[in-house]
Parts: sequence; structure tokens; C-alpha cells
Amino acid sequence: MTALHINGGIPLQGKVRIQGSKNASLPILAATLLAKDNSHILNCPQIADVEHMLSLLRNLGCRVSRSKEGYQIDSAPAGACKMSGEAITGMRSSLCLLGAMLGRFGEVAMEHPGGCIIGDRPIDLHIKALEQMGVVFSEEAGRLVGKAAKLHGADIRLPIPSVGATENILLAAVQAAGDTLIAGAAKEPEVEALCRYLTACGAEIDGAGTSIVFVRGGRSLHGAQFKVPSDRIVAGTYLFACVGCGGSVLLENAPCEQMEAVVRAAESMGARCQPDCGKGSYGTEYGRESGLYVHSCGRPAAVERLYTAVYPGFPTDLQSMALAVLTRADGVSRVEENIFENRFRVVEPLRKMGADIELLEDRTAIVRGKDTLRGARVEAKELRGGAALVLAALMAEGESEITGCAYIERGYENIGKDLRDLGARISSV
Ligand code: EPZ
Repeated sequence: MTALHINGGIPLQGKVRIQGSKNASLPILAATLLAKDNSHILNCPQIADVEHMLSLLRNLGCRVSRSKEGYQIDSAPAGACKMSGEAITGMRSSLCLLGAMLGRFGEVAMEHPGGCIIGDRPIDLHIKALEQMGVVFSEEAGRLVGKAAKLHGADIRLPIPSVGATENILLAAVQAAGDTLIAGAAKEPEVEALCRYLTACGAEIDGAGTSIVFVRGGRSLHGAQFKVPSDRIVAGTYLFACVGCGGSVLLENAPCEQMEAVVRAAESMGARCQPDCGKGSYGTEYGRESGLYVHSCGRPAAVERLYTAVYPGFPTDLQSMALAVLTRADGVSRVEENIFENRFRVVEPLRKMGADIELLEDRTAIVRGKDTLRGARVEAKELRGGAALVLAALMAEGESEITGCAYIERGYENIGKDLRDLGARISSV
């Protein structure tokens, strides 16, 4: 799919099944390297980033095969080798191989994992923490090389609850000599899912999903079967599509318990959300991944202040989608991006569609809602900004064409089909 063609202005109706989580799948697939054994990872989304991670694991010697429900990965044959350059560059999502390769082989060589346009994506916290665990890093011909004669546990304090750094520390710690304590760990559900997989493989981890995580070192791991949770960002994407276009949608398998801040934001824009088990108020008696009903009609309401934060705050990955919806809100909204330094690149194409957005210097956008957006030809420049342009096109009057869809395919199995199933007039060209 190179482009999407959309006729906007149609309310959404129907149900859509939410895919497995990209950001949980990637570290879990990397973690299969740690056990010289076979793991079966279920509900992995069929997206470009997962395919890429699997090709990296094959590059390392793992046997990877597709099953009906997911992937069988036998990492017994894996051996340390230099990751091929083009494989790593620009693929931030494979950074979690750093910790997994150090944990398995005690060495790693890879191109500096690329950033993308949402920010320069430094890895200083990863490096500093792994150095505390005995890794010596050097630059060799433009590659990042890490070696640890003896990986050992450490007391690590993260100044920023970095998701990736927390994941790399966990991956290096589970088999290191001695225990590791991570203070200031990321609490995102994807980190908690990684801890659940590692525990299923025999690791001993306390505090999963909290900011203080203890890892008992020296455990040898075995393979495990594990089901990846649903993707809260994909669920949030389609939730905001309904808020922006109006309609009634059932998000099947949505991880409701991970979406409280997202639901609160949608409800502040005038939507009504209800777990589909129908019991109790939001956040109480619903079953895990039971699904979420979303109903919205008329123009969204403006939001006085929406700001992104680490979990359980409003996720940075849904900021662009909320911004797109607010361009049609009935009033003025303020959106603050507190995680990445450059996550307003989507503003320029939104303006091309008629949005009135003013950018202040401190990563704040002031959105003056307008009754209608107009269809236009716009280009996706990164994953979540691209998804936000799809939402804007669905809301706009007239036809839009969105190019650069390879970015969107990195995170969404089939956004065109999913939205068509909800009644959108959208086709891949
Ligand atoms: C993960 O990225 C996700 N990616 C991102 O999702 C998500 O936006 C982000 O976490 C925040 O939730 C994957 O899981 C593959 P961070 P990550 O380390 O780990 C700074 C998507 O669209 N920082 O938590 O790279 C960093 O610059 C992607 O699915 C350092 O300064 O995010 C950023 O400002 C986009 N030094 C902040 O911390 C470091 O060593 C949070 O980054 C590491 C990070």
C-alpha cells in the first residue's frame, strides 16, 4: 500500500477487532533470544516492525516459523554475530535487541539505532545503565559495540522512565550474575507484558508494571507460550476516529484497563464509552480485554488542556490523533506534548486540510476548532502522524489522498480494512 484514498464526512458504525500490541510484541520477540529454547508467541500483529524483528532474529540464527496463532521461535541455534547495518539503522523498534543480545551472548554490535522525526531518540540512558551492569561500549567503524566479560546485576536509577531503557535493563538482568533493582522504571503495559513473558520463561521479577522493579539474577530461562495483549494505541486510534466522525463503534478485544486516560479524554470531547461487558462503571468490573463501545455524535467538544505523560497518563502515541479530532471541535483546545520534542510535524498537513493550529515554543499547540476540514493530498512522515492524517481525512468534507503509507504499515495491520469495516469510504491505491 503506497497511498490511501478517502472520502470523508461519514459517521462510523460497526465493530473492529483490535490487533496485538506492536510495542509489547517487539521486546517479547527480542526476549525469546534469552532462552536457548522454543517459544510460541501468540497474537503478534502482522506489521512491518514485527516482520523486521523476526528477520533480525533469523539473522542471529534463530529458527522462526509462523503458526496459525503466531510465531514459533527456536533460539537454541542463535549465535553472536554482527547485526547487518541496514537491518538496524533507522529501526528504533529493534533497540531492545541490545539488552537481549548482551543477556544471551555478552556482546553486541549494531549500527546506532536510528531515530525518526519525532525526536533524536538518544540512547544515553540505555548505555549508562548497561555500563553499570558491566558492559563496555565502544564505537567501531560507526557501529555501537558492547562487550561484557561478566554481566552483573546493579542498582539502577532512571532519571526518565524510559520504556526502551527499562526493557533493555530487564533483558540484560534476568540472567546476569546477581540481582538488579530498577528505580524510576517505566510502568507502561508493554513493559509489564515483557515481565510476564520473562516470568513465564522462569525469570524472577517483582514490581512488574510499577516504578520499582526487582530482578533476581542468574536464572536460566526456558521457552514459553505467551499471548501478546491487544494494542492500546490502535484501539485509541479507532476510538478517536469515532469521536471525530461520529457514530457507534465496538472495539473488540480493546485493553480497556490500559485506556483510562484515553477514555477520559474522549469523554471530555463528548463521546460516551462503555466496556462491552456492560457491568459497573468504567474501570471497575469489566473483564480484561473485553472490548469497548464508543458512541459520539455532532462536533467534538473542545478540551481546555490535553497533555501527554508517561503511563498511566495520556499516551504520546495518541497525541496526534487527539489533535486531529480537536481541529473540528466546537471551541479552542490546548495540547501539550511532554514526551518527545518534535511530535507536531503533523500540524503542517493538517493546516493544508484547513485546520487552525498555532504552535507555541514550549511544545504546545493551540487548536481553534472549525466546523469542517477539506479533503487534500497529504503525506505521512511518521507512524502516528500518518494515522492522524487518516482520521483527519475521514472527518474532512470531500476526497483526500494520503501518501507515505509505509510509515502507517509499521504499526497497523490493515488500517484501510479496519476502517472500511466501520463504514468508512477508504481504499488503498
Ligand atoms: C517507546 O519508545 C515506544 N516505542 C514509543 O512508541 C513510545 O512513544 C515511547 O516508548 C513512549 O511511550 C516502542 O516501544 C518500540 P522512551 P522509546 O525511551 O522506548 C528520552 C510508536 O509510535 N530518552 O520512553 O524510544 C526520549 O528522547 C512509538 O509506537 C532519553 O533522553 O521511548 C524521549 O524524549 C513512537 N534517553 C523520552 O525519553 C534515552 O536513553 C521517552 O523515550 C532514552 C529515552
